Parts: sequence; C-alpha cells; structure tokens
Amino acid sequence: MFSKNLPSVEPRVYIVGAGPGDPDLLTVKAQKLLAVADVILFADSLIPAQILDLCRADAEIIRTANKTLEEIVPLMTERVRSHKSVVRLHSGDPSLYSAIHEQMYLLSEANIPFEVIPGISAFQAAAAKLQVELTVPGLVQTIILTRISGRTEVPATEELATLAAHQASLCLYLSARHVEDAQAKLLEHYPAETQVAICFRVGWPDEKIRVVPLKEMADCTHKEQLIRTTLYIISPALSPATGRSRLYHPEHHHLFRSSH
Ligand SMILES: C[S@@+](CC[C@H](N)C(=O)[O-])C[C@H]1O[C@@H](n2cnc3c(N)ncnc32)[C@H](O)[C@@H]1O
Repeated sequence: MFSKNLPSVEPRVYIVGAGPGDPDLLTVKAQKLLAVADVILFADSLIPAQILDLCRADAEIIRTANKTLEEIVPLMTERVRSHKSVVRLHSGDPSLYSAIHEQMYLLSEANIPFEVIPGISAFQAAAAKLQVELTVPGLVQTIILTRISGRTEVPATEELATLAAHQASLCLYLSARHVEDAQAKLLEHYPAETQVAICFRVGWPDEKIRVVPLKEMADCTHKEQLIRTTLYIISPALSPATGRSRLYHPEHHHLFRSSH
C-alpha cells in the first residue's frame, strides 16, 4: 500500500540509489528521504542538480566529486554523531560500481548505522528507452552486467572475451575510454552484425542513444565523442522482435490461469 507519510528518519546514513538521472525515476522511498534528510552528499558529476530540488531548503548539501573516501566517511560520521540524518546519493543502483563496499565497512567500523535503498540502474533505464526486453524466449535468457578493466582491474576469470562467449545480453559499464579493446574482445564471439545500443546519459536532458552493428561500436563512440557516462548494451534481443514468451501464451497454464 502506498503511504503518503514522510518517514521519521533516524540519525544514520541512508545510502540511496538515485537512478540514472531523470528525477521521476527516483523511488518513492528515495524522494521521501530526500524531503526530510538533514544532510545530502552527492557526486555532482553523476547526479543531475534537479534532484536537489526535492531536498529541504535548509538541508546541508555536500558535493563529493572532489573528495576522497577518507574525507567523505568522517563527514558522514560526524553528522550522524550530531544526531543528523544523512542521505548519501549514488547514481543508478548502489549495488553496481558505486564503491559502497568500502564505505559500509568504514561506517560499521565506526559504529554508524546505515541502510541501503535500491535505485534503477542505467541498464534498466536504457532498456526501457530502447523498448526492448533483454530476455527474449528462444533467443537469449541471460543478462551479464560487466565492465572492462581500467583503473579498476577486472578479475581474469571475468575477462570480457570469456563473458562474450555466452552471447548473452551484455551490459557494459564504465568502458567508453577503452571501446576499441572492448569491441575487439566482443567480436571474438558475437557476430559482427549484432546490434549494440550506445547509451549516453540516459534520462539526462542531453541523452543520446545510437544503435549500430558491433563492428561500428568504437567508430560511433568516437564520432559522437562519448567518453563518460556511457553504457553499451550488446544483445541479440536488439534485433527486430522474434518469438513470444510462454508466460502469456494460450497453451501455457499456471497457478493463476488454469486450463478449462
Ligand atoms: C560509477 S558507475 C555507476 C553505475 C550505477 N550504480 C548504475 O547502477 O547505473 C557509472 C557508469 O554507469 C553507467 N551509467 C550510469 N548512469 C548512466 C546513464 N544515465 N546513462 C548511461 N550510462 C550510465 C555508465 O557506464 C557510467 O560510466
């Protein structure tokens, strides 16, 4: 049941997924927390400023783009110890490439209570914009969320070429700076004509989405000068629709639709 009440916030850190950028894609819980929190921390490079319109006019806003974790955690700790509620915004969903693992470790060490609120990840927002299902029966039933090695090393067992061998719907984060390398590794297994959606700042006012064959992925990225905030979706499901799901098929019977 949808509750219109604002939550009574505790002095703790709320690690909140802010979604891909469009304020309308915040969860109701994220909006409610933003409306009441005493302190909001957010990375200006990843979260559009409009999201701050939802905050209390007197909330303390701390921008973190130029701060290290060693600076951010003591800031949050000090505020919570002063009985303030702190919202730490992360883009998309915090479970993906958000560096919350070490933040939660340090907060636990300092005995600071925290809670994690999920958000819509970039791959979900991109799939919605593309109007595709990434799991089409008879075609592809697996989604891989990954990245290429950059400053953060990807373990050898998760090497992109190895994952490409599955020919699943592959959502590639944080990889625009290494797009030639990514394309070469993907081409080891995906056919060159496989469609790739290049999704820049989905949900932001300057959003750009291009769908090209895999062999043109790097060229298109360079032509459009995309370096940051770009997600690639490589998937057989991006080709024109084929097949249909068993779930709504007249011959498929289940608990809520029995055969007569
Ligand atoms: C630090 S990671 C954060 C991912 C985030 N936690 C998520 O669930 O979407 C940043 C990367 O996520 C992807 N990303 C995040 N927001 C995006 C958006 N609005 N449009 C396209 N890609 C996005 C890009 O690959 C970007 O380089």
